[in-house]
Amino acid sequence: MVAYKSVTVFAPASVANLSCGFDIMGFALEGTGDRVVLSLSEGEENDILELTGTYAGHVPAERKRNSAGVAVDAMLAAIGKLNMSIHIKLEKNLPVGSGLGSSASGAAAAVYALNVMMGSPFEIKELIPFAMEGERAACGTAHADNVAPSLLGGFVLIRSYDPLDIISITTPCELYCVVIHPHIEVKTSDARRVLKKEFPLQVVTRQSANTASLMTGILTCNYDLIGRSMNDLLAEPRRTMLIPGFLAAKNYAIEAGAIGCGISGSGPSVFALCNNREITTKITSAMQKGFSEAGLTSDIIISSLNAPGARLINKEIF
Ligand code: HSE
Repeated sequence: MVAYKSVTVFAPASVANLSCGFDIMGFALEGTGDRVVLSLSEGEENDILELTGTYAGHVPAERKRNSAGVAVDAMLAAIGKLNMSIHIKLEKNLPVGSGLGSSASGAAAAVYALNVMMGSPFEIKELIPFAMEGERAACGTAHADNVAPSLLGGFVLIRSYDPLDIISITTPCELYCVVIHPHIEVKTSDARRVLKKEFPLQVVTRQSANTASLMTGILTCNYDLIGRSMNDLLAEPRRTMLIPGFLAAKNYAIEAGAIGCGISGSGPSVFALCNNREITTKITSAMQKGFSEAGLTSDIIISSLNAPGARLINKEIF
């Protein structure tokens, strides 16, 4: 049943991986994200995608290739309403190829909006597989570590992809994140292509120990343990070469008092954690210095780790 004529939703940017949690951890960011307005089309056309916002020109305009369009269509197919005429207006505020979960934000906002429009037949968690189809269209892999936090908010752990098992974690700790987005583009598909496909058992053991320890640190507010555990042996060693200034920014962040620092998602954004909002300014300048030495300008996001997820902005009744 269609409950609303038009629905507007915001979904936040996110940081995926958290260093050692490749494809299985992520958290939502405060402040920035994409907006989607879904409305019932007057005409018969059911494939309309309208793009606005700063980065409108950087995403596919074709609905079947756009993460928001694909996610909406995956959900319409699941509820047997593929022929419904829905106009998608995507306000693309997040830069693409940034490591900020840009494609996920659009997809998350779109499925959240469709769910509200249809009278909320799904729990928010149940929307994740539809948004993941948007990720598949955007980068070739249906990873959930951006769409899940963008939909649910806060910190999210993906225990399993098949079957999908998603765990939301509210950290009791005072934890803040500084994200620096250097002005270059790294496509997630390229950043996945450079990864090794197989790893020695010893590496897998060390990575597993780090992810378990990171979770323990986040749940017990053991900041030293969080820092020691933010050590990625799978993706960071290969992706470092794609991000000029990353190693300098990381070293400067730690010198400035960050608990740990790593690549945000598939980069080029870089994130650092700290346990005191006051030192976020110092860490921000330190990390930006690392990128400026590499000739890159950058912008910043500062957030707590318990940021809210997708939310309704407006709805219009018939
Ligand atoms: N886990 C994904 C990756 C996140 O690292 O490729 C992409 O933002």
